[in-house]
Parts: sequence; C-alpha cells; structure tokens
Amino acid sequence: MRDDACRRAEIARLGMTIAIDGPAGSGKSTISKVLARRLGIGYLDTGAMYRALTWFALERGIDLEDEAAVLCAAKVMPLEMHADPDAPVYRVGGVDVTDAIREARIALAIAKVSTNLSVRRWMAGEQRRRMMEARRSGSGMIAEGRDITTVVCPYADVRVLLLADEEERLRRRTIEMHGRATPELMERVREQITKRDAADSTVSQFLVPAEGVSVVDSTGLGIDGVTQAILAVVDRNLEARA
Ligand code: DC
Repeated sequence: MRDDACRRAEIARLGMTIAIDGPAGSGKSTISKVLARRLGIGYLDTGAMYRALTWFALERGIDLEDEAAVLCAAKVMPLEMHADPDAPVYRVGGVDVTDAIREARIALAIAKVSTNLSVRRWMAGEQRRRMMEARRSGSGMIAEGRDITTVVCPYADVRVLLLADEEERLRRRTIEMHGRATPELMERVREQITKRDAADSTVSQFLVPAEGVSVVDSTGLGIDGVTQAILAVVDRNLEARA
C-alpha cells in the first residue's frame, strides 16, 4: 500500500477527482475532510451549497415553492467557499454563514430547494466545474453529497457510496446536533432524518450504488477503518493510471 507522500506526488502528476455519496449520518463529511487533508486535495461539501442557497432565499423573503425565483437566487448568490478541510468557511455577500446554514430552520426548509430540479441542474453544473478546474490545476478535489457519483461527476476517478446502518446513522446525527444520544433525543432526530432522506431520495439515488461505484459500509468501522477502505480504492485507481 502507498503512503500519503507517494499518493500526493502521484495525484499532483495525474490529478484526482473523488466522489462520495451517502445518506444523512453516513459519515461523508468527516471522512471527506480526512481524505482531503491526507491527499492534499480540495474539499467540496455540496450539501453546504444547498444550505447556503436556502439561507439566501429565506433572507431575501423568496417563496421556496417558487421554483423559478429560487433558481434565479442560485444564479445571483454571491457564494464564497473556503474549502479548507480543517475549517471550512462559507460566506454569502460577505456575511459569514458557516454556522447559520447548520441551524434547524435551514434543515426544515431545505427539501424545497434540494428537490427543485432546475436548481439541481444548475448546482450540478457548478459543482462539476469546480471539480474539473481543481483536477486541471494539477491537484484534485473530493466532493460529497447525494448525486456526485451519478449526476455531478459520474466519470470521477474514484466513486464511493458510503453506507451505515440506520441506528448508527441516527446515533451519529443526534450526537452531532445535541452533543449526546439519549433515547428521547434519538427519537426526535429520527423523524427529521427519515423525512429528509425520504424527500432527498425522490430526486437522487443514494442508497444503491450505480455501476462502477464502490460501496463502503461504515457500520462499526470507525474513521480509520473507513479511511483505509477508501484509500484502497484510491490506490487501485492510481495503480491503473500509473
Ligand atoms: O449533506 P447535508 O446534510 O449538508 O445536505 C443538506 C441537504 O441537501 C440534504 O437534504 C440533502 C441535500 N443535498 C442534495 O440533495 N444533493 C447534494 N449533492 C447534497 C445535498
């Protein structure tokens, strides 16, 4: 198995795009940040783009049911992303929205934005452009979301669907939101997570792998275990392109 220095050198020569999809609580963000850091590539949290757009549209008083108005908001939104995997920062028109986009009011409204098919088409183009630019510029990018392996970048060098059993996903999300996972808190989060996954799965397929996509089940694996599993896929890709 290669070490990170060797991987970085090969990536600088060959370029690398990594697409990671999975449901809420599958561990995509944590793992993608670890991999970006270790491989020295950019990190793109596509969910944050949908979150920022939801924040922006609410801020402007746009009716989220008005699909054309939300698409227009996407096109004019002055979004700045500093995708440092150690401390990602998101700004809209100079306002730091890094914390605001994680608020419950965004999670409650976001399905109206993320199921808007015109917005999805526009977002996919924007995300693909960012990935290709990073690859061309001699390093690369890891992007995580729901439709990266299938729509945004089906020709990514490495494509992974990250899964985890439902109780584990629920426990992780509850700890993330409340700092601990008591049975009562988990029940509260269960309803939210189930609703969101159900809404999201009407527009993208992220529970079954598309052809050529490697499945990694993170249940009981821990961050190191999942990272190793994905690095093995990265190494196979580098080997094949060497
Ligand atoms: O991954 P997340 O929780 O930050 O995602 C926020 C929402 O955006 C979630 O409802 C799924 C949706 N989303 C999407 O539809 N497509 C993506 N590529 C990323 C996120």
